Amino acid sequence: MTQDEKTKLRRPFVVMEAHRVQLKVALLLLLINSVLTQQVVRLSSRSEFSALLDLRSSLGIRAKDWPRKTDPCSRWRGVECRTGQVVGITLSGLRRTPAGGRNPGFAVDSLANFTLLAKFNSYGFPLPGSIPDWFGQRLSALQVLDLSSCSITGSIPSSLGILSGLNSLYLSDNFLTGAIPLILGQLLSLSVLNLSRNSFTGTIPSGFSSLLNLSTLDLSSNFLFGPIPNNLGSLSRLKFLHLQNNSFDASIPVELASLSQLIVLDLGHNGLSGSLPNGLFSNLTQLQYVVLSRNSFDGNLPDVLSSLPALRLLNVSSNKFTGVLPNLTAFFNATGAVVDLSDNYFQGPAPSNTGTNVVVNGNCLQSLPNQRSLQDCRSFYASRGLIFGNDIAPNPSLEPASISEKRVTYRLVGLFGGLGFIVLLY
Ligand SMILES: *[C@@H]1O[C@H](CO)[C@@H](O)[C@H](O)[C@H]1NC(C)=O
Ligand SMILES: *[C@@H]1O[C@H](CO)[C@@H](O)[C@H](O)[C@H]1NC(C)=O
Ligand SMILES: *[C@@H]1O[C@H](CO)[C@@H](O)[C@H](O)[C@H]1NC(C)=O
Ligand SMILES: *[C@@H]1O[C@H](CO)[C@@H](O)[C@H](O)[C@H]1NC(C)=O
Ligand SMILES: *[C@@H]1O[C@H](CO)[C@@H](O)[C@H](O)[C@H]1NC(C)=O
Ligand SMILES: *[C@@H]1O[C@H](CO)[C@@H](O)[C@H](O)[C@H]1NC(C)=O
Ligand SMILES: *[C@@H]1O[C@H](CO)[C@@H](O)[C@H](O)[C@H]1NC(C)=O
Ligand SMILES: *[C@@H]1O[C@H](CO)[C@@H](O)[C@H](O)[C@H]1NC(C)=O
Repeated sequence: MTQDEKTKLRRPFVVMEAHRVQLKVALLLLLINSVLTQQVVRLSSRSEFSALLDLRSSLGIRAKDWPRKTDPCSRWRGVECRTGQVVGITLSGLRRTPAGGRNPGFAVDSLANFTLLAKFNSYGFPLPGSIPDWFGQRLSALQVLDLSSCSITGSIPSSLGILSGLNSLYLSDNFLTGAIPLILGQLLSLSVLNLSRNSFTGTIPSGFSSLLNLSTLDLSSNFLFGPIPNNLGSLSRLKFLHLQNNSFDASIPVELASLSQLIVLDLGHNGLSGSLPNGLFSNLTQLQYVVLSRNSFDGNLPDVLSSLPALRLLNVSSNKFTGVLPNLTAFFNATGAVVDLSDNYFQGPAPSNTGTNVVVNGNCLQSLPNQRSLQDCRSFYASRGLIFGNDIAPNPSLEPASISEKRVTYRLVGLFGGLGFIVLLY
């Protein structure tokens, strides 16, 4: 008998043995599970039980989700306990009774009675009204607060700034207004801050530079303005920086060069301007998504962008970039990388070997369809005192003299054109 045949003969026994072991493990798990549910998590605090009943009625939660005569720790959906006390409440996915749905509000006063409450998550559960001032004062054990998509109004109470154990704060997709309180800069444990899709106004508080544990900062889709603070460069753990769809202005602070963990940089749809220094990106080797579209950036696209090893999306569309494109060959070797260069003023030859992953519409590139008119390109370059190369022989060793001659010619044409226009008017 070969070794192979011996193995085949033995196989049924091995299989039976395996089944027996599986059965034993399953029984054991069942036993452990029932012991756990009976002994460990039963709610032991009488006052917390009546607080839960209060919450159930103030929010109008259905008996189906929170059945009255059962143990909340093991039977109520979204209630988590530790050593017989409530440590987490998740309202997401719960539905209200018809009566409760008629007059919903931010009716969560009884939360203050759970002394160990570490998590409150009402993502998508409507709580129309504003966050009460006592929230930060009374919920001092809170680590995770998720009030995303809860129809919340008003401003952020400054008491949230004293929740020193807070790790994640999600207030996205509400109707919050006012400034982002300076005091949030005291939340030193904070890892996620998501304030996107609200109506916040004002600037990014300079105190945010103390949030040294922050890995996600999403302030997108608000009405924030002013410059991006230089000192955000101190947030060395930052991975996701979303500032898109606001009214930030000035240039990108070069200090962001030290955010070496950054994976997503989305600054799209703002009023940012200035050129991108090469040094900004050379250290950001983890970058996968860089979105700078719909701003007023100008100057050349730094060469280093095309050699970022992890880059998957580069979107610089709808800016005022000029000059020739960097060599993108290395970039397109990355799988699935997409580059959107559309609606700028890039000039010179079309990029080669780029496949279908590059969008170049609306530029000043040579011999390509869907480009700007020559007139548009010439006058844009002239208005900035730059040379528009498509007019000149593609000769890399252009003499400075001919450049200034060209510039003078443009000025003269402009001057005489203007005079002619005035003469015509008369
Ligand atoms: C909850 O706490 C408040 C204020 O401390 C107290 O007045 C109220 O009786 C408590 N509710 C329950 C159900 O224990
Ligand atoms: C920092 O955030 C992580 C989660 O990203 C958390 O586990 C850790 O406790 C936080 N550190 C501090 C010092 O708060
Ligand atoms: C912030 O929250 C919104 C909505 O809840 C979500 O779509 C978005 O992905 C979050 N931002 C980050 C960076 O995770
Ligand atoms: C941009 O922000 C405005 C105002 O907050 C919002 O109405 C709009 O939906 C946002 N656009 C995108 C694309 O997120
Ligand atoms: C690049 O990152 C390293 C840490 O990874 C840091 O020490 C250095 O200062 C950074 N350089 C720049 C120019 O920010
Ligand atoms: C780049 O950004 C523009 C403007 O926000 C958007 O319309 C376009 O779809 C984006 N391109 C890619 C490839 O994501
Ligand atoms: C572009 O870069 C690649 C390597 O990344 C190189 O092989 C190629 O010759 C370069 N093309 C030009 C026009 O410099
Ligand atoms: C790009 O990939 C091709 C093979 O797909 C390889 O021959 C070439 O060396 C790569 N170029 C760079 C710059 O990585």
